[in-house]
Amino acid sequence: MRYLVTGAAGFIGSHLAEALQGAGHDVVGVDSLTDYYDPAEKERNAAALDLRRLDLAHDALDLDGVDGVFHLAGQPGARSFGPVFPLYLERNVLATQRVFEAAATAGVRVVFASSSSIYGDAERYPTPEDTPPLPRSPYAVTKLACEQLARAYRHDFGLDVVVVRYFTVYGPRQRPDMFLRRACDALRDGERFEIYGTGTQSRSFTYVADAVAATVAAMERAAGGSLYNVGGGEEASMLDAIALLEELSGRHLHVRHVDAALGDVARTKADVSRIARELGWAPETRLADGLSAMWSWASGTVAAA
Ligand SMILES: NC(=O)c1ccc[n+]([C@@H]2O[C@H](COP(=O)([O-])OP(=O)(O)OC[C@H]3O[C@@H](n4cnc5c(N)ncnc54)[C@H](O)[C@@H]3O)[C@@H](O)[C@H]2O)c1
Repeated sequence: MRYLVTGAAGFIGSHLAEALQGAGHDVVGVDSLTDYYDPAEKERNAAALDLRRLDLAHDALDLDGVDGVFHLAGQPGARSFGPVFPLYLERNVLATQRVFEAAATAGVRVVFASSSSIYGDAERYPTPEDTPPLPRSPYAVTKLACEQLARAYRHDFGLDVVVVRYFTVYGPRQRPDMFLRRACDALRDGERFEIYGTGTQSRSFTYVADAVAATVAAMERAAGGSLYNVGGGEEASMLDAIALLEELSGRHLHVRHVDAALGDVARTKADVSRIARELGWAPETRLADGLSAMWSWASGTVAAA
C-alpha cells in the first residue's frame, strides 16, 4: 500500500511512518516543520523518510496514487489559551478541513488523530467513547471540532474516516514540552524539574509503539465512521511516573511544584474495550518497560550531541 502520513516529522508520526515502512508499505511523509519545538529535532525524526514540506492549512495536497491518509499533523499542547489560539485554529481545524476535503474528493480513507483531552474532566472513569465531551482547553475544543468535521464530511461527502483518541503517548522522541520528556531531560541534565500542581494528576500513559499499532489497525480493519480510544493499560500519577524514572535511572529528580496549568485535567483513564472487541487491539507495553526505553533514548541524546 502507499500511505501518506501527515505530521511525519513529529513524535508519533515519525514512529508510525517507520512502522509502515517496516511492514513493506510505501510512505510519503508531509510536515511543515513548525517551530512549536526545535525543527532540527523534527528533521532528525524524519531523516529516513521521503518527506514533503507542505503546510496543510495553505498548500495543495495531492492524493493521486495514495491508498490511505494518516492525519497526525496538528498543533498539540493543552496550554492553548490566549494569543496562541489562532495557531490551533489554523493547524488543527483549517488544516484538517482541507485534508478531509482532499480525501473525500479522492475517495481515500483518513485515520484522524484526536485526543483524550476532548473528555475534559470526564463524567466516568474508565472513560468509554460515548461519554459526553467536556473539553477544558482551546486545544481540546479544536480537536473536538475536527471530529465533528469528520462526521459532517462522512455524512455529506461519504468521507471514509476513522477517529482515534490518543491518551498521553510517550516513548523515544516524545515532544520536548511533554511531562515525561521534560522529566527525562531534567534527570539527564541534573536540573530542577517544575511540576504543575500537586503531581497527583494521573494519566493512561500509552507507549508509542502501542499507539502506532492501534492506528494501523484503524486503517486496516475499522469500519468507516468508527471512533476509538487508544489508551495504555496502566494509570499512573505524575509522581508515580517520576518515582519509576528515578528507579530506572538511579538518579534523583529535584522537583519544584508550580501552579497547576490552565486546561490541565485531573485524570484520564481510557476504556479500551471497544477497540479490543472490534479490532483486537490492546496495549502491550508495561509502563516500566516503556519508560526504560524512553530513558535509554533520552539519556543517549546527550552522548549523541
Ligand atoms: N502526543 C500525545 O500524547 C498526543 C495525545 C493526543 C493526541 N495527539 C495528537 O497526535 C498528533 C501527533 O502528536 P505529536 O505528539 O506527535 O505532535 P508533534 O508536534 O510531535 O507532531 C505534529 C507534527 O505536525 C506538524 N504540523 C503542524 N501543523 C502542520 C501543518 N499545518 N501542515 C503540516 N504539518 C504540520 C508539526 O510540524 C509536527 O511535526 C497531533 O495531532 C496531536 O494533537 C497527541
